[in-house]
Amino acid sequence: MTEVLPVHALAERGPRDRARAARSGVAARPRVLFVSHTGTMSGAELVLRDAVRPWAGSSAFLFEDGALTEALRNEGLEIRLARRRSALAGLKRDVSPLSALPVLGQLGALALEIAGAARSYDVVYANSQKAFLLSSLAARAVGRPLIWHLHDILDGAHFGRVQRVLQVRLANLCAARVIVPSEAAARAFVQAGGRRSLIRIVPNGLDVDPAPCPAATLRAELGLPDGPLVGVFSRLAPWKGQDILIEALATLPGLGCIVVGAPLFGEDAYAAHLRDLAARQGLSDRVLFLGQRDDVPRLMRAVDAVVHPSVDPEPFGRTLVEAMLVGVPVIATDAGASAEILDGGAAGTLVPPRRPDRLAAALSGLFADPDSFRARTALAQERALSRYGADRMQRDLADLILQVAGQA
Ligand code: UDP
Ligand code: GLC
Repeated sequence: MTEVLPVHALAERGPRDRARAARSGVAARPRVLFVSHTGTMSGAELVLRDAVRPWAGSSAFLFEDGALTEALRNEGLEIRLARRRSALAGLKRDVSPLSALPVLGQLGALALEIAGAARSYDVVYANSQKAFLLSSLAARAVGRPLIWHLHDILDGAHFGRVQRVLQVRLANLCAARVIVPSEAAARAFVQAGGRRSLIRIVPNGLDVDPAPCPAATLRAELGLPDGPLVGVFSRLAPWKGQDILIEALATLPGLGCIVVGAPLFGEDAYAAHLRDLAARQGLSDRVLFLGQRDDVPRLMRAVDAVVHPSVDPEPFGRTLVEAMLVGVPVIATDAGASAEILDGGAAGTLVPPRRPDRLAAALSGLFADPDSFRARTALAQERALSRYGADRMQRDLADLILQVAGQA
């Protein structure tokens, strides 16, 4: 008879428990090898950091060293750094099969390394795309079940056709489960040819520090200007649509904006374009670029509204939930998961993507009648607290891991 472990019990089980469990015939918790291709902390890696909390004593196989290494080590994971760390650097999302050829040998060696590591684990858990591609071959080679935590929308806006086909075929062949954070991501996976029965939707969950403080005090502490102020809190990348917000601001005299985030994956030209665009529109004194920050919830509390202007479908958008949790009005583009998270617009304002005019109209409406947004913002906070907490996500993911390991 197998034992279903409550998530809080997982962290308490170590090698001694495993040995005892083996003697008694009761299932010990499985050992999980979490695999990540990047060491940079974007949303997917922040989710992984929170997801592994109940799995202290398991391990992470990382293709590169970075902030994620320390974050996972702090959660009690043993870190295994790939020996072939440069192999994936040249492999971009829109890669053509031809340009991938020169790195194929290195990728094969990396897959073998993962396979070697995976032998000592019960389950392989691949976070995101590239980790999945290599883990799928590795897990299959050594007969370990594989979970793919897919953080993307597999559509033509984000990926080339060859890559989509390759991913869903590999998933259909090798994955025991595909975890996605939203209905929108699930739909795209199926539309791309992925098997529906593989999918489990586990919305991202996170907590923010409950330390409310008046916005005026925060602004003084943070050196932010008085007056109407909005913020955008995403890494700088063309599909995150910060340029649309800047264009909208050009039509809204007197409205300031903080742009928080950096180009994390080589989008430096877009970052330069944003500054240039703000200067050309005569907005240099109203648009403040604050770079990458580690105090996002605090900054959110200091603004009058959070804008999430993604121009392509957003797979989830942790920043939406962060804004909801801190109780600031949210205006987001209606693409991807935003409508699910904002309850079809009942918990925030939805505008069409790539429409600076519609975004400007929504912002005007907010500042003309802030009271009318209060109920929506309160609903958003309640919704985020009840649906998008870190505990719930950890429990859901742990249940899935136990199922895949045959222990639930
Ligand atoms: N973030 C951050 N510092 C910044 C900008 C963003 O810590 O300067 C965080 C943000 O708070 C959120 C995450 O990065 O938790 C971004 O996740 P999201 O799901 O919104 O988007 P992604 O970048 O993963 O596409
Ligand atoms: C990806 C997506 C983002 C999602 C995050 C965590 O980076 O772009 O929407 O919130 O992963 O799942």
